[in-house]
Amino acid sequence: MGEFAELTFRGRTIRLPVVEGTEGDIGLDVSSLRSELGAITMDPGFANTGSCRSAITFIDGEQGILRYRGYDIADLAEHTTFLETAMLLLKGELPTKPELDAFTESVKEYMVLHEDVRHFFNAFPKDAHPMAVAGAVVGSLSTFYPEAMDPRNVEESRESCRRLLAKLPTIIAWSYKHSRGRPMAYPHHSMGYVENFLHMLFSAPYRDYVPDPLVVRALEMIFVLHADHEQNCSTSTVRVVGSAQANMFAAISAGVWALWGPLHGGANQALIEMLEHIRQSGLTPRQFIDQVKNKTSTIRLMGFGHRVYKNYDPRAKVLKKAAFEALERLGIQNELLDLAVRLEEAALTDDYFIERKLYPNVDFYSGIILKAIGIPLTMFTAIFAIGRMPGWLAQFHEMQRDPETRIARPRQVYTGQARRDFLPIEQRG
Ligand code: SDX
Repeated sequence: MGEFAELTFRGRTIRLPVVEGTEGDIGLDVSSLRSELGAITMDPGFANTGSCRSAITFIDGEQGILRYRGYDIADLAEHTTFLETAMLLLKGELPTKPELDAFTESVKEYMVLHEDVRHFFNAFPKDAHPMAVAGAVVGSLSTFYPEAMDPRNVEESRESCRRLLAKLPTIIAWSYKHSRGRPMAYPHHSMGYVENFLHMLFSAPYRDYVPDPLVVRALEMIFVLHADHEQNCSTSTVRVVGSAQANMFAAISAGVWALWGPLHGGANQALIEMLEHIRQSGLTPRQFIDQVKNKTSTIRLMGFGHRVYKNYDPRAKVLKKAAFEALERLGIQNELLDLAVRLEEAALTDDYFIERKLYPNVDFYSGIILKAIGIPLTMFTAIFAIGRMPGWLAQFHEMQRDPETRIARPRQVYTGQARRDFLPIEQRG
């Protein structure tokens, strides 16, 4: 038997096998706990609970390290296209040029939506949030591909991966066009993946939108930085739904819904709303930080703090640098960026944040770039969803192929009423 931990409870001692990861990360296997000790673990929010072994993404929260398939996130953000990183996550290796070209062409082929899907958009209110539209339309795509219902069918799953990677940008761009009462724009075969998204978002029948290469590069980098993040809330949701053998469209739709939460992917929109509030209220960064620290308030410094990173989120480092570069090259003097930097400085020198190891996360600077390149605020979380799609897909497939996978079904400790006799209604009250 390999290394183990011992646990003694009420005079009984059991051994918990140790699971050790590539980077020395340690898990204690408690799968025999209930049968041997009659007890379960308790871990609200699963902060200390590993749900799986995974070979896709490694995070060291203390050191602020993030790697996709062993490659450092800063290298991937600087040197790869989004679909190149998507192939890395899905296949485990960086593609050759011919492989990437073939994959890019196959994904672009799928960017067009079935014409019947186009009518869905007319049913949504003009002010429908893009994440509501995305979750609903992604889930409904399963009705168009009945052959892709079994997630264990490898060939169909490969096609569904391309469909979901390809169609989410179109769904989100069309939700924006519907919100503005403008006609939908269709993808051009001559354009790349990111260019097509921007074209579908901003082109009009009387005027083609020609994307600025700087804007394309900034968005490409943002998608790469958001592509995966091991077992975060939305990815875990995708895995839980997929563990029931639900189809890929259902699982990914569930991931979209989870990502919408302001504590998760919704934080980038909430961040800009927070900065705008501070600016319009005339609060100084110090005054706002004091409000955040006041425990009677529910105010949080959005874009700060992380369940795993107890150091600077490496993605935030890349995004902070990119924000300055993008605004300088676009010739934009952005008050929000200056305010964000002053907020960061105030927080990082404040004991409340230092003691809790609260640092900027991926959302603290991403929204500033998105705003500067003209992405509408309500689309920010949807941008995160486009970026996270390859991670959701790669994790879904890893789970389907993992022999340890079982349907996700946590236990509980019951704290309700003890057994009591039934009371006929005429005897109640
Ligand atoms: C993402 O998991 C991932 O990997 C997610 C993600 C990904 O790529 O998928 O990285 C993307 O979701 C980034 C996080 C975006 N969310 C925000 O920026 C919202 C603001 N941040 C927080 O709400 C919070 O930090 C979380 C939700 C991110 C993490 O929550 P935890 O780990 O459950 O921490 P907690 O809420 O228990 O906080 C611990 C303490 C508390 O204080 P005390 O009770 O000890 O006094 O820290 C405080 C919290 O009040 N705290 C904050 C804070 N975050 C934590 N106080 C003020 N402002 C904050 N932002």
